[in-house]
Amino acid sequence: MRGMFASIAPRYDLLNRLLSLGLDQRWRTALVRSLPETAPGQRVLDLCTGTGDVARALQPALPEGTRLHASDFCEEMVVLAPSKFATEGAPAFTVGDAMALPYRDRSFRAVTVAFGLRNIEQPPVGLAEMARVLEPGGRLLVLEFSRPERKLFSAFYRFYFFRILPFMGRLLSGSEIDAYRYLPESVWAFPTPAQLAEEMDRAGLAVREQRRFLMGAVVLHVAERVGM
Ligand SMILES: C[S@@+](CC[C@H](N)C(=O)[O-])C[C@H]1O[C@@H](n2cnc3c(N)ncnc32)[C@H](O)[C@@H]1O
Repeated sequence: MRGMFASIAPRYDLLNRLLSLGLDQRWRTALVRSLPETAPGQRVLDLCTGTGDVARALQPALPEGTRLHASDFCEEMVVLAPSKFATEGAPAFTVGDAMALPYRDRSFRAVTVAFGLRNIEQPPVGLAEMARVLEPGGRLLVLEFSRPERKLFSAFYRFYFFRILPFMGRLLSGSEIDAYRYLPESVWAFPTPAQLAEEMDRAGLAVREQRRFLMGAVVLHVAERVGM
């Protein structure tokens, strides 16, 4: 997984914009709008941050004095992130595994993950870590692809996702690894929103909202850390 993302890192942003027709940035903006109220001194964590696009969208939305941390286990991706920020007040970018977070229990007000949970080797382990570092009442925001629900749109989407996207992805990414064939296959194998809500529940994360975009092709899962 790490090698696959390393191989597409240099063209990752460009491919995101092209292959989603620019919609990916709108979905990240929707995620930012679902942030909980955050006070100075509190911390927010963006996991699987990749090249830092979620962090870039989050930063201006946070009140002064809020600290933004962002991490990813693929160094080739995360080294591209800091150049998107002014040096002063830039998020703390680190290389790290979402399944073994180096943070204290209950130390974040919000945790965000965009298009990352599906790629974590064991999503339940990742979810348990996210729940652990969230303060009670803190919010988890997961943006993730899903299978569209409407039959007609689904047929069209499948054709694009399984036929056109892998071809374009291979051509434009310059990578020998078929990352853009892996993408649709991993989305189809990923739990449905209802199944994911159950997995989150088991981790102590109560799902409050599942907002669908592009007829369910992308879902924003908003969950709250319950318990003490
Ligand atoms: C599709 S990219 C998403 C990047 C970014 N969040 C975005 O919205 O563009 C998925 C990212 O998840 C990272 N990733 C996968 N498994 C991980 C893990 N166990 N720990 C940390 N990062 C992981 C990959 O390195 C990759 O950068």
